[in-house]
Amino acid sequence: MIHHKPSSIGVQFCFNFAMVYRKRFHFRSFNKFNVVTSCLFIVLTVIYGCIYLYEAVPPVITEEHMSLDSNIDSKDSDKSCDLYDGSWVLDENYPLYNASQCPFAESSFNCLANGRTDNGYLKWRWKPKNCEVSRFDVGVILEKLRGKRVVFVGDSLGRTQWESMICLLMNGVNDKESVYEINGSKISKKIRYLGVRFSTYDFTVEFYRSVFLVRIGLVPKHAPKRVRSTVKLDELDRISSKWIDSDILVFNTGHWWNHAKLFKIGCYFKVKGRLKLGMSTMAAYTTALNTWASWVENKVNTSRTRVFFRTFEGSHWSGPNGHTCNVTENPLVQSSSEYNESRSQFSDIIKEVVNNMSVPVTTMYVTPMGSYRSDAHVGTWSDNPTVPDCSHWCLPGVPDAWNEILFSYI
Ligand SMILES: *[C@@H]1O[C@H](CO)[C@@H](O)[C@H](O)[C@H]1NC(C)=O
Ligand SMILES: *[C@@H]1O[C@H](CO)[C@@H](O)[C@H](O)[C@H]1NC(C)=O
Ligand SMILES: *[C@@H]1O[C@H](CO)[C@@H](O)[C@H](O)[C@H]1NC(C)=O
Ligand SMILES: *[C@@H]1O[C@H](CO)[C@@H](O)[C@H](O)[C@H]1NC(C)=O
Ligand SMILES: *[C@@H]1O[C@H](CO)[C@@H](O)[C@H](O)[C@H]1NC(C)=O
Ligand SMILES: *[C@@H]1O[C@H](CO)[C@@H](O)[C@H](O)[C@H]1NC(C)=O
Repeated sequence: MIHHKPSSIGVQFCFNFAMVYRKRFHFRSFNKFNVVTSCLFIVLTVIYGCIYLYEAVPPVITEEHMSLDSNIDSKDSDKSCDLYDGSWVLDENYPLYNASQCPFAESSFNCLANGRTDNGYLKWRWKPKNCEVSRFDVGVILEKLRGKRVVFVGDSLGRTQWESMICLLMNGVNDKESVYEINGSKISKKIRYLGVRFSTYDFTVEFYRSVFLVRIGLVPKHAPKRVRSTVKLDELDRISSKWIDSDILVFNTGHWWNHAKLFKIGCYFKVKGRLKLGMSTMAAYTTALNTWASWVENKVNTSRTRVFFRTFEGSHWSGPNGHTCNVTENPLVQSSSEYNESRSQFSDIIKEVVNNMSVPVTTMYVTPMGSYRSDAHVGTWSDNPTVPDCSHWCLPGVPDAWNEILFSYI
């Protein structure tokens, strides 16, 4: 241990040295190579001196040192606990709530109430390979959230997670009347803002609908006729200032970045005020996510706000045109022929953008866990059974598992 410290001091010294060197001599072309070489020399000298000292005074290895080492080892093996690599196991303690008793589970996701008769899909718990998701203890989480502000931002799948979280938490609240939507608003598909207050615990769980996270813009003059609106990839959503002052901030986007929801309805990309008619959705997605990343870096105080980005959730459309929705009775097993590759280009981009960031953000990589759950979609058990739904999930269900993982971080 001892010989690490001087070397870092050496580096610090080098940095100072380089600055003085730079100031004093006003080198026109500041030669990095020279400085690096000099620094290396100084650092090596310092290290050598330390090794010399170190050898002269042999360290005494005591029991304490050894147990310290074994602690470090066990911490290292904790790192191999990947919460997102695992499988679904049967657990009779599930589901965690009854959607018919939760006023914030929207009717289109309440599959049992809409006539689903098999209920095996409610009994699965997510089990990471090398560890466990901390058991959800509603009393503990309610206390942890006291005085806080939880904000979800994204599309309808963000809304589902918001609903799931409220239903999970309401289970621990005796006086259900003490949990209410701030403006008395009703849940609807296009509502821009929903905020539920847990008054006994003085916290809110809010949802902002922002399907692209970036701003919807006007059509520039002289644009081709087919252009009816634009997505401004270099500016975050106009309502983004409302998200900043939060304690837990959870994002998602992906389901709207496709041909049918963009070009087919005349919506094209715009960067720096200029139309980008030929830009691919994936290139646009990457640009938008980088806009989001610099917004987080510049506007959000990540010492206070814990930021999460939930990755893309696999849907289970099948058939020749991908319009068939066959909800199964059981989750798929990885070895089955119906199991599709769990990777998603959206999720890969999210992971890369987050990895590139200079502030701490947690990627919730829920893509693989959802890919097994062809049994957990809404199917025809929504409020509109004529339109099958293999994208959204029944509640209770998969979004509860996302929240259990989210709670395990706080
Ligand atoms: C859920 O609650 C509803 C309404 O109270 C009730 O009719 C139903 O039996 C409950 N379902 C389960 C699975 O407990
Ligand atoms: C909802 O309530 C909040 C806080 O009271 C307020 O700032 C906001 O303008 C309201 N929004 C709507 C859509 O009513
Ligand atoms: C960021 O949050 C931390 C923790 O709440 C606080 O101590 C700090 O003052 C905040 N920084 C700014 C610039 O607001
Ligand atoms: C997996 O993908 C193939 C090809 O896109 C599709 O035909 C099949 O139905 C999918 N299976 C499931 C369970 O979604
Ligand atoms: C739906 O999936 C099940 C289980 O994989 C399969 O047995 C059944 O044939 C499928 N039904 C249709 C209509 O594709
Ligand atoms: C991440 O950073 C690298 C290096 O600057 C860059 O090449 C890459 O394009 C970035 N990734 C994304 C998805 O923006």
